[in-house]
Amino acid sequence: MSKEFKRILITAALPYANGLLHLGHLAGAYLPADIYVRYQRARKRDVLFICGSDEHGVAITVTAEKEKTTPQAVVDRYHPLHKAAFQKFGMSFDHYSRTSLPIHHATAQEFFKQFHEQGILKEKEEQQLYCEKDKMFLADRYVEGTCPNCSYSQARGDQCENCGTWLNQTELINPVCKICGSTPVVRNTTHWYFPLGAYQERLEAYVRERSERDGWKENVLRYCESWFKEGLQDRAVTRDLSWGVPVPVEGYESKVIYVWFDAVLGYISSTKEWSELCGEPERWRTYWQRDDTKYVAFIGKDNVVFHCIVFPAMLMAWNDGGKEQYVLPENVPANEFLNFEGQKFSKSRGWGIDVQEFLKFFPADPLRYALALNLPESRDSDFYLKDFQARTNNELADILGNFVNRTLAFVQKQFGNVVPTCGALSERDKEMLASLAKAPESIGSYYERYRFREGVIETMNLARSANKYFNDSEPWKTAKSNPEQCATTLHVCLQIVRALAILFEPVVPDIAQRMWQTLNLEGSPRDAGWESAGKAVLTTGRVLQPPQILVTKIDDAQLEQMAQSLQEPSPSAVPMVPLKPSITLDDFKKIDLRLAKVLGAERVPKSEKLIKLQIEIGSEKRQIVAGIAQHYEPGDLVGKTIVVVANLQPAKLMGHESQGMLLAASNQDGKLSLLTVSSDLESGSVVK
Ligand code: MF3
Ligand code: ZN
Repeated sequence: MSKEFKRILITAALPYANGLLHLGHLAGAYLPADIYVRYQRARKRDVLFICGSDEHGVAITVTAEKEKTTPQAVVDRYHPLHKAAFQKFGMSFDHYSRTSLPIHHATAQEFFKQFHEQGILKEKEEQQLYCEKDKMFLADRYVEGTCPNCSYSQARGDQCENCGTWLNQTELINPVCKICGSTPVVRNTTHWYFPLGAYQERLEAYVRERSERDGWKENVLRYCESWFKEGLQDRAVTRDLSWGVPVPVEGYESKVIYVWFDAVLGYISSTKEWSELCGEPERWRTYWQRDDTKYVAFIGKDNVVFHCIVFPAMLMAWNDGGKEQYVLPENVPANEFLNFEGQKFSKSRGWGIDVQEFLKFFPADPLRYALALNLPESRDSDFYLKDFQARTNNELADILGNFVNRTLAFVQKQFGNVVPTCGALSERDKEMLASLAKAPESIGSYYERYRFREGVIETMNLARSANKYFNDSEPWKTAKSNPEQCATTLHVCLQIVRALAILFEPVVPDIAQRMWQTLNLEGSPRDAGWESAGKAVLTTGRVLQPPQILVTKIDDAQLEQMAQSLQEPSPSAVPMVPLKPSITLDDFKKIDLRLAKVLGAERVPKSEKLIKLQIEIGSEKRQIVAGIAQHYEPGDLVGKTIVVVANLQPAKLMGHESQGMLLAASNQDGKLSLLTVSSDLESGSVVK
């Protein structure tokens, strides 16, 4: 049933350039994709790994509004953060693009135009939720309500995160405007609709055929079946918004393409950009438009409908137009969700660990290993810090690290750090070499079937049996009693070290590379090729490098330190208000800051916010008016030494003269704190 493919195109869901990446993202799509890609590269297959930032969508606009900045500024901030976090985590993308680029807009518009010209898109006037206060249609995340399917209370206008259902916003029960909290009304508006229902039969056949051919995951098939059962409906693919890809149809310039309708095409535009950077602008077609490409799309469960139904339907629609023919996903290995310490990751509740933060404390490899063993492959799973510590210490360090270390230490001491001669093989040696010979196929076959957890367990089991082999062979005894046997044992152990470097590379690439270097081998384990892990090809007489520490154990104090830092939301998790343009020192020196003593304070009548203060700046007495009444009682202010701008032109606030301004810090929640000075420096002192 399986098909012969010449190359593999792998994509991982394009994360929104909005909010930080957490461990749940890694476990959902990115780590499995990266293990798969690294494994396929070791198999010497022609592989292309594509990702990028999803930079449209209402969530980004909402962030921009909150921060009083532009959507472009938001994505400009998060795109490089994501890119850096992925790099630190060891993601081996061939290209990481972004959907706000012209190349992507052009690609999305080309598809839209083509559908429009083929007469596939239908223009319909339908009811949409409209907020009378905010005077706008509440597209997608601008509205929340109860899911008609699973009763989850925070379903969004376009999708329920809980059950994954793609919703029509008017189906929401008790909808609420996310901007002002009021109940929206329904109003008519015109949009373009994609007739998903018309593709249902072909989509069902597609899912059936591909899943028979490549073994789709049960969870993915369950989602697809339930949507097919409900029946696919026409979907609006335009929105009344200004941030996004403009609709390329005359008279519709004020609308944009629905974010999901452009985002999935981001895989194609990212590949195009990669091709341009390679200096072969047409090369992307090899991956997207040749029938012998195997396309695998890695995602998290909330993206299933868009990758198993919407994207394939779009590609079918394009292919029907008779132009170039795109390949459809051969498989969509979606994971379920990862929880953290028994609770859902939640941005709003600040629960979870952002990737950069985690990697400030620990290297990527132990995290990759622990995540790989807890992947939510068939159901939601949990990540516990204690488990991370145990996996690192008891498995990576005590099994893998220990085996490599004892082997190299022994060879250094007993054989002058040179690969010893392999003599006659005992039964035990033969058995060990036989399991080594089988390992690449058995581990590989798990990876081929997207069963990453089991593949990694199998890999660690090889290290485990290697340790047992070392113990049972007792080289410390045979060193004296049977030196030839001792040499053979260590020869075999070194072959296993080499094999483990190759087989562990997809999971813990950095550790694997260091193992490789210790054996004094050139290039990387991947260059040797996956199959070669099963062969004893390390040559006798090769001089090795001195052993180095492979895995550092994690002690309780370190874990505690990290757990503590998680309690306080990391400073980077709260996006900062953007900085103002820089100024010169001379600019700054124009401001005359002085210490002032508060002599008296009272509320300004009829004002909720203002307090009138009598202050003393050196020998001068002044009155200032400040908007701090919601934060301080007048009585608490008297006697404090504060900082004021002493050369600000006087102004009148609600009829009261203010001869200066006091300094205070405020955060985005509106909390405020006066700048006070605790020393007994006299008022009038210069602040600089
Ligand atoms: N940005 C989406 C999310 O984070 C995923 C988009 S995947 C794509 O859920 F295919 F649409 F790009
Ligand atoms: Zn739901």
